[in-house]
Amino acid sequence: PNAGPPTRSLICFSFPTLASRIPLTRVKSMRQNLREKNKLKDYLESHPYNVAYRSNDSDLDTGVQSVPMRNFLDVSVIYFGNISIGMPPQDFKVVFDTGSTDLWVPSIYCYSPACASHNVFDPHQSSTCRISKQAIHLEYGSGDMTGFLAYDTVRIGGLTVLGQAFGLSLQESGTFMKYAVFDGILGLAYPSLGIRRTIPVFDNLWIQNLIPQELFAFYLSRKEKEGSVVMFGGVNHSYYSGDLNWVPVTRPLYWEISMDNISMNGEVIACDGGCQAIIDTGTSLLIGPSHAVLDIQKIIGANRTRNGEYQISCNASNTLPDIVFTINGIDYPVPASAYIQQDVQGTCFSSFDKTRGSMFFPDLWILGDVFLRLYFTVFDRANDRIGLAPAV
Ligand SMILES: *[C@@H]1O[C@H](CO)[C@@H](O)[C@H](O)[C@H]1NC(C)=O
Ligand SMILES: *[C@@H]1O[C@H](CO)[C@@H](O)[C@H](O)[C@H]1NC(C)=O
Ligand SMILES: *[C@@H]1O[C@H](CO)[C@@H](O)[C@H](O)[C@H]1NC(C)=O
Ligand SMILES: *[C@@H]1O[C@H](CO)[C@@H](O)[C@H](O)[C@H]1NC(C)=O
Ligand SMILES: *[C@@H]1O[C@H](CO)[C@@H](O)[C@H](O)[C@H]1NC(C)=O
Ligand SMILES: *[C@@H]1O[C@H](CO)[C@@H](O)[C@H](O)[C@H]1NC(C)=O
Repeated sequence: PNAGPPTRSLICFSFPTLASRIPLTRVKSMRQNLREKNKLKDYLESHPYNVAYRSNDSDLDTGVQSVPMRNFLDVSVIYFGNISIGMPPQDFKVVFDTGSTDLWVPSIYCYSPACASHNVFDPHQSSTCRISKQAIHLEYGSGDMTGFLAYDTVRIGGLTVLGQAFGLSLQESGTFMKYAVFDGILGLAYPSLGIRRTIPVFDNLWIQNLIPQELFAFYLSRKEKEGSVVMFGGVNHSYYSGDLNWVPVTRPLYWEISMDNISMNGEVIACDGGCQAIIDTGTSLLIGPSHAVLDIQKIIGANRTRNGEYQISCNASNTLPDIVFTINGIDYPVPASAYIQQDVQGTCFSSFDKTRGSMFFPDLWILGDVFLRLYFTVFDRANDRIGLAPAV
């Protein structure tokens, strides 16, 4: 890889098309896969929970820039969609992740066990690919991914982005990604969270005039394997009821907002006096500061298991009241049937989890898929705001 970064080719302008919908497939989370393989305890102990964050830019010129990443267990993200890269197209399953910014997939040069079980990109099979000398390093919990930057055509639904920067892995250490059902990650957070100041996919969709509105939205279906979608460039009103309530983004890095409080039966149980939260499609659960989450586990009667998870009686999902997240003065109730999840063996677990180990932002709440299945969410880059409405 020594071709150097390409000069960006001239974009042929086309008229903005209609909004594009990409279907998402829902699968068992990595957490469930590991629980079934009795490997969950080891995994939890060795992988502190984290969200993606960008390290100081001062090392930009020194060769390697690190972008430590979240632990992708809760990931474990159980929703992914298809994209293709290159010409002719090579297909990948990626998580559309609002908690990180970069796009990356495994490469044919990666000999790690995790790469053996996934689709890998071959730059030499693509006539439009330019590889660069720029190394990248993504860290997570106790392992990491190293690789390099490349540029190529990326197709998402009916949209074709030219000259998109993306990461190609050379090494994916440890169990990282080994159990993941997806190949890579397509980040949708703000450019300031991205590696090496590259232009993220969503920014290119807008700059290259491929979408009519500078926003995207997620509908995560509650039960069915199919039916979930991410839509780029427009909002389809048939996925929600009532009006969207808009909430300003407080810090354009993650999709971060202020939350007023979290309550049950009209009493505040967490986030008293306000707190910050990020809306993260790449997290399954409701993650909060450990003291706050321990209080909530106690209130709902969830007990710690040997795995470090919080088990709860399945009956509680019929008897416990809603937990209400108040955001910008509007109540977003989460019923017990959503904050209690049953696994395939019939055991029930709390959907609340605390940040583990050394989290970069220990006071941040992370509202993951448990919340997003209840509320259709619009990520409006033009106005730096998030729109929420009950999902149908
Ligand atoms: C993704 O692509 C695979 C294989 O090409 C196909 O079987 C699958 O249905 C696609 N999934 C979605 C959600 O479009
Ligand atoms: C980044 O590095 C510079 C120079 O080393 C330092 O002045 C600055 O405070 C650092 N910023 C952060 C957020 O750590
Ligand atoms: C909106 O979504 C509904 C339900 O999936 C679909 O039938 C309809 O065609 C969509 N409308 C547009 C304009 O995409
Ligand atoms: C939560 O915050 C909102 C907005 O500040 C406030 O109106 C409401 O009373 C608070 N909820 C409780 C239970 O105190
Ligand atoms: C949790 O522990 C308490 C006290 O030991 C017990 O009464 C309760 O039944 C336990 N709940 C579950 C779900 O195991
Ligand atoms: C759950 O409810 C069922 C029927 O309503 C009852 O038979 C069972 O004892 C309950 N289990 C617990 C742990 O409370």
